[in-house]
Amino acid sequence: MPPDSSSPTVTSICCIGAGYVGGPTMAVIADRCPDVQVTVVDINQARIDAWNAADLSQLPVYEPGLDAVVARARGRNLHFSTAVEEHIAAADMVFISVNTPTKTKGIGAGQASDLRWVEACARTVAKAATGHTIVVEKSTLPVRTAEAVQAILAAANPNGGSRRFSVLSNPEFLAEGSAITDLEAPDRVLIGGNDPSAIEALAALYASWVPQERILRTNLWSSELSKLTANAFLAQRISSINSIAALCEATEANVQEVARAIGTDSRIGPKFLKAGPGFGGSCFQKDILNLVYLCRHYGLEEVAAYWEQVVSLNQWQQQRIAHVLITKLFGTVSGKHIGVLGFAFKADTNDTRESPAIRICKELLEEGAILQIVDPKVSEQQLAQDLGQASGAGEGRWHQVPDVEQAATGADALLLLTEWQHFAQINWPAVAALMRQPAWLFDARAKADANAARAAGLNVWTVGEGQL
Ligand code: NAD
Ligand code: UDX
Repeated sequence: MPPDSSSPTVTSICCIGAGYVGGPTMAVIADRCPDVQVTVVDINQARIDAWNAADLSQLPVYEPGLDAVVARARGRNLHFSTAVEEHIAAADMVFISVNTPTKTKGIGAGQASDLRWVEACARTVAKAATGHTIVVEKSTLPVRTAEAVQAILAAANPNGGSRRFSVLSNPEFLAEGSAITDLEAPDRVLIGGNDPSAIEALAALYASWVPQERILRTNLWSSELSKLTANAFLAQRISSINSIAALCEATEANVQEVARAIGTDSRIGPKFLKAGPGFGGSCFQKDILNLVYLCRHYGLEEVAAYWEQVVSLNQWQQQRIAHVLITKLFGTVSGKHIGVLGFAFKADTNDTRESPAIRICKELLEEGAILQIVDPKVSEQQLAQDLGQASGAGEGRWHQVPDVEQAATGADALLLLTEWQHFAQINWPAVAALMRQPAWLFDARAKADANAARAAGLNVWTVGEGQL
């Protein structure tokens, strides 16, 4: 459906924030809307340089298919720049796609979202925008944030003036590792707002490739809250299945069989029922804690406690896996080599934010283990930052290795934490021969070929599988 005649036609977009969301989202919009100029701006010069790198393998975000999309659009109608104000001034639509992490100090520390970057964006837009500007919240925000954004923008225009702002909420539902397919064929696009012509202008952009019936329009607060709620429901399913995984291990049931059995009920559905080391990523924990904070703010203590338990169970699951490994290795990992297979929070991404591997590895290091970590996309620098220490040799230290074989060399155990596809095709006889016996495979993703590992002489522990 074309925008109604009163809707402004968008020809120039500026997106503030060139991160995991801003970069891929704008690349797909530019790819699908070749008549619209799209500029992604960021204050981080190194990130912008990486987005402009001639070698597409150097893009700052690894996502399957992203390089091809960037190759088609970059330089044509997709640009990356640090000239923030200049590109806001030239845009008729500005997306705010900056980070909104959990506050670390002050009121709401540990739960509330830190909105300082969003507020800074609103103030920059208030200063630099010209004419009628549609401001789109793409970041995940606490419900009613648009009120604050509107107040800042209104204050910039005290006497009406020639400038006008419309604020929309358009949360992003992409998952990392499948961002490009999620963006190209979304289950839905959600647009919240109270200015119908601005809503239709944004809907018209998406309509270039998204079927009309998948473009949902709501009020601002429903849109903001829907994003937090979607993530809370998804994370809740993971904590639910992980809780049942622990019970399976205690009762000789098998969580994969249970997941299949319940997932075929069309009311439950098969997705997000994979037991693992706990959910990671930059969104789930942050967004649930934010929901918890909001519930408490509105005096809904029981609701807050209900959602808080999803996060507690997740932290318990991570700790539980480290403890299972230590217990099986005769109660001590001190001075023992352990090969860690995967460090990213899920496969097909280089992102390690809130990865369960961080907590699990730190616990093993504290117990004196020597970790040999392999991950095809995570850099040594990132590992050092996440583990809080540079790589090194000896008890309680870690180092990076290039392949499974070197992770296994001299190791008492392999611990599979990320479901990279090639971990399903390990040559177990060759790998087992490199390990110190008795040797273990701890598979926290149920990804490896457990039968082959057993046949090669390893003891195998798989998440959610009772030992027969
Ligand atoms: P990110 O940290 O990867 O990127 C944010 C970028 O914003 C950084 O490069 C930072 O330098 C830049 N920035 C911060 N303040 C700025 C300012 N004032 N001016 C210009 N640039 C500024 O974050 P992300 O993962 O892309 O997440 C962005 C938002 O999207 C968050 O609210 C997040 O919750 C939400 N979200 C993330 C995902 C995901 O999978 N990562 C999915 C859906 C929604
Ligand atoms: C999530 C939401 O899915 C996405 O809609 C939102 O926009 C951002 O947050 P993301 O965190 O990128 O996306 O990945 P997701 O696939 O949701 O996985 C999150 C975590 O849950 C990962 O650590 C993953 O390994 C884990 N997970 C997922 C499970 O342990 N079991 C499952 O069945 C699914």
